[in-house]
Amino acid sequence: GSTLGSAASGTGRYFGTAVSASRLSDSVYTGILSREFSMITPENEMKIDATEPAQGQFSYGNADRIVSQATSQGARMRGHTLAWYSQQPGWMQSMEGAALRSAMLNHITQVAGHYSGKIYAWDVVNEAFADGGSGARRDSNLQRTGDDWIEAAFRAARAADPNAKLCYNDYNTDDWNQAKTQAVYRMVQDFKSRGVPIDCVGFQSHFNPNSPVPSNYRTTLQNFADLGVDVQITELDIEGSGTAQADNYRTVTNACLAVTRCTGMTVWGIRDTDSWRASATPLLFDGNGQKKAAYTAVLDAL
Ligand code: XIL
Repeated sequence: GSTLGSAASGTGRYFGTAVSASRLSDSVYTGILSREFSMITPENEMKIDATEPAQGQFSYGNADRIVSQATSQGARMRGHTLAWYSQQPGWMQSMEGAALRSAMLNHITQVAGHYSGKIYAWDVVNEAFADGGSGARRDSNLQRTGDDWIEAAFRAARAADPNAKLCYNDYNTDDWNQAKTQAVYRMVQDFKSRGVPIDCVGFQSHFNPNSPVPSNYRTTLQNFADLGVDVQITELDIEGSGTAQADNYRTVTNACLAVTRCTGMTVWGIRDTDSWRASATPLLFDGNGQKKAAYTAVLDAL
């Protein structure tokens, strides 16, 4: 195909991007979006602080605008995210214990219920493991409600939207030899063995010189897939420019293509100027919306 979405579709995969509701009035942005992408992740609009700003009061306007855009261009949606230590509303940040556990479960039930039938995959739980060599869970108010908070979140999500694929999503889980990667792997293995509903694992894949694309990236994706889950590249961006950046994008694309259960990849924004790390120029289109070398490398690989 001549676009990312159509080329990925030719391999049975999707090609997605993060979208901000605030940019939907920019016709250059929406032009590229509707032309190139077949999956949309709201960059912030489905996070807990956005969807439940006051406890028990749900706010779906901006997220619904993105879902409407997806529908109008024939793209599918990735929901992001139902349970996370970050971007919690103030009321949740100050909660702990049993009250927080029940607030988390109610949030999942309400939000996944609101979007039931409209979401291809949910990042049910985001970033629950610590960096470094411990392989431990990340400390957070959610973690302090008990180790079983993650499986409780997945069960609530399954009940609220039985047809969505339910994913665990994290970063620094790309290198097979890292303790964090191993810890997430063991959790998924445990969930599969006990029948906890998990369908997929998302690899954020925010790469930069301090955190480059690991040489065993494809191995990592394949090892997770071999547990019986789909894998996806969920927030791809790669700091750099020119040929070096293009080579890294090609490597990542080829890694997904080499793994049958790698069902798609998503970049974390459209133009470099849309990026949460704009100074890294980490995306496929420049600030004017022109295709970069990295774009061509991805399209040619697909
Ligand atoms: C980022 C957004 O891009 C920013 O706009 C926001 O200020 C902070 O969050 N991991 C994730 C994403 O799972 O939700 C984060 O998105 C980037 C890191």
